[in-house]
Amino acid sequence: MANITIIGPGAIGGTVAAWLAQDPRHRITLAVRTRLDRLEVHTPQGVISAQPRVLTEPAQATPADWVLIATKAYDVVGTSRWLDGLCRPDTLVAVLQNGVEHMERFAPYLPSERILPVMVDCPAERLRPGVIHQRGTGRMVVPRGRSGEAFVELFAQTPIEVAETPDFKTEIWKKLCYNSAGALSAILLKGAVISRHAAVAQVMRGIVRECLAVGLAEGARLDESVVENVVSGYRAAPPDSVNSMHADRIAGRPMEIDARNGVIVRLGGKHGIPTPLNALCVGLLEAAQG
Ligand SMILES: NC(=O)c1ccc[n+]([C@@H]2O[C@H](COP(=O)([O-])OP(=O)(O)OC[C@H]3O[C@@H](n4cnc5c(N)ncnc54)[C@H](OP(=O)(O)O)[C@@H]3O)[C@@H](O)[C@H]2O)c1
Repeated sequence: MANITIIGPGAIGGTVAAWLAQDPRHRITLAVRTRLDRLEVHTPQGVISAQPRVLTEPAQATPADWVLIATKAYDVVGTSRWLDGLCRPDTLVAVLQNGVEHMERFAPYLPSERILPVMVDCPAERLRPGVIHQRGTGRMVVPRGRSGEAFVELFAQTPIEVAETPDFKTEIWKKLCYNSAGALSAILLKGAVISRHAAVAQVMRGIVRECLAVGLAEGARLDESVVENVVSGYRAAPPDSVNSMHADRIAGRPMEIDARNGVIVRLGGKHGIPTPLNALCVGLLEAAQG
């Protein structure tokens, strides 16, 4: 039996929590900001539901074997308030977020050997608190090692595929290449269909080339093929699919501008690599966010 607490049961946290709750080996707890009574997830395999224990205040937290963080990258401070109560010295903390700075975000709060960064690939949207649409198959990748192996085992009875990799850096930079181009949907307020427009696809290629250059300087092992893969990936997606930054802009929530495009500009600056297109995306999205 594993005691697993998920901080942030939104699109990703709610999907993962509901799937883990189907496994009788696990006891699931949710640490929430907005109260909810149950989870209902519309998955490619049908509707699943769960009624986990719900904590609304960090003072209610009790130690868990695993803590899964699924808040947005910019909610680190609020998220960190849960950690003292949820963590024993042997609790493992998995960070299910986008970007390439999972470790850096939580290093001020936890020893690095207890943090497991997770690359999440699972198209999901929150319809309202506790109700989620999981649009496609869930896939996660973690660094190879003892914590990674234990994380794979947590999901063994679910349809979410979890793989270990010896080269996590390449995995997260590949995902960042994809996500960086998604800024255009958030700017234009149009789904993946915009990638079918030749001029937009050209801008996407430029954004991804900047991300690729910075990723290579950071040690990721990628090549130019990632550029066309990103464009064809958006073109193959359902035309109306909405990435999470676009969804945040529509809902009037803050966007993960820094984790998805700002980081390319910041790290580009460190390596002397120009990143004007990502800087433009950051500027436009910050202006749109107000
Ligand atoms: N959605 C996707 O398709 C997708 C795919 C791959 C990766 N990701 C990444 O996964 C991460 C999570 O994204 P998401 O789409 O799941 O976001 P989301 O739907 O906005 O969910 C975030 C959740 O965190 C909660 N939260 C915020 N601060 C909190 C706090 N202090 N304590 C407890 N809960 C708190 C929010 O509560 P409220 O209800 O109060 O807002 C919300 O339930 C992001 O880094 C995203 O980029 C998302």
